Amino acid sequence: MKTALITGVTGQDGSYLAENLLKKQNYKHVIGLVRRRSADGVNRLEQIQTHPALTIMQGELEDAGLLARLFSVYRIDECYNLAAQSFVRYSFDNPVATAMTNYIGVINLLEAIRHHSPNTRYYQASTSEMFGGLTEEYLSENHSFHPRSPYGTSKLAAYWHAVNMREAYGLFTCNGILFNHESPRRGSEFVTQKIAAAAVRFRAWKNSGGMGEPPVLRLGNLEARRDWGHAQDYVEGMRLMLQEEEPGDYVLATGQAHSVRDFVELSFAHPEVGVKIRWKGEGLNEVGSDADGRVLVAIDPVHYRPSEVHVLLGDWKKARECLGWKPQFSFEDMVDQMIRAQVARREGHGPTA
Ligand code: GDD
Repeated sequence: MKTALITGVTGQDGSYLAENLLKKQNYKHVIGLVRRRSADGVNRLEQIQTHPALTIMQGELEDAGLLARLFSVYRIDECYNLAAQSFVRYSFDNPVATAMTNYIGVINLLEAIRHHSPNTRYYQASTSEMFGGLTEEYLSENHSFHPRSPYGTSKLAAYWHAVNMREAYGLFTCNGILFNHESPRRGSEFVTQKIAAAAVRFRAWKNSGGMGEPPVLRLGNLEARRDWGHAQDYVEGMRLMLQEEEPGDYVLATGQAHSVRDFVELSFAHPEVGVKIRWKGEGLNEVGSDADGRVLVAIDPVHYRPSEVHVLLGDWKKARECLGWKPQFSFEDMVDQMIRAQVARREGHGPTA
């Protein structure tokens, strides 16, 4: 019977992973670490908040003393480090805060493990942002890195630190190089949830009689392409990595890329919303309208990034062959789920996150 520690347990991935582990028979205790003043609250833990095997603790990765105590007091078999400053755009404005959590935090965690609990198996939330997305090719564990944001560089430093601790001290550290993964629990600042919310806001406007101008969704780069999977699939991949005999690094992806524009079209065309978006104009002047010419989508350069990751497409062969992992949700299923969850939330009968 194992004890697992999940940092960032109130986030999209943390909450799904906690549910996943608590459903398994072989976890007697799941400890969730939550940043003090976390904006997320505990909404995403609604379904498991009162589970007897779940303990929620407050603390930050910058607090090395707290982490040392944590690993001395509890016998932690598995540590999943999902706590991060995960918004790429924000990292350009706050590179130091991003590095403190995403890199220094990882050093603190692995020092605590090395000195107090060297048999703990460690999962590091690494990311496809480390690749930089300058070419349209399938990216595997063997591809070279070229991060294009302070977020990407902080995550790459943490990736190498986890590898180094494995090579230097024999710690069981795994990097999950995860491509974008979404769900109804996705944070509202990420483009998929922003689009799903806007499509459903338009639906509400239409259903209430469509008076005045419809709400406008303001986006940045419509041509960015991402390999979007479902977070529920990806947390199972994280767990599988720590069950292997040897530690290693694995890409989790779907092998299919879609553009932001595709995501907009599919979301507004969803049966709950029912609009075919028509595009007109170019660059900053491009707009997306409905059949009556009403503007529903416009470009706002505030959402452009100083350097953009144009396309990310993952090769998940190693995960399939070594872990037996396979994504279960299709892209269309995921969009459908996100739109339906937004509708339920608006109508007051869905989970709040
Ligand atoms: N957020 C946002 N808002 N992104 C926009 C917008 C907008 O209004 N308009 C266009 N985009 C484009 C971004 O420029 C980017 O190319 C793409 O949509 C996806 O942006 P995000 O949803 O913010 O995610 P991300 O790809 O930057 O990062 C996510 O995935 C990484 C894995 O590759 C995050 O979850 C990271 O934490 C994660 O590591």
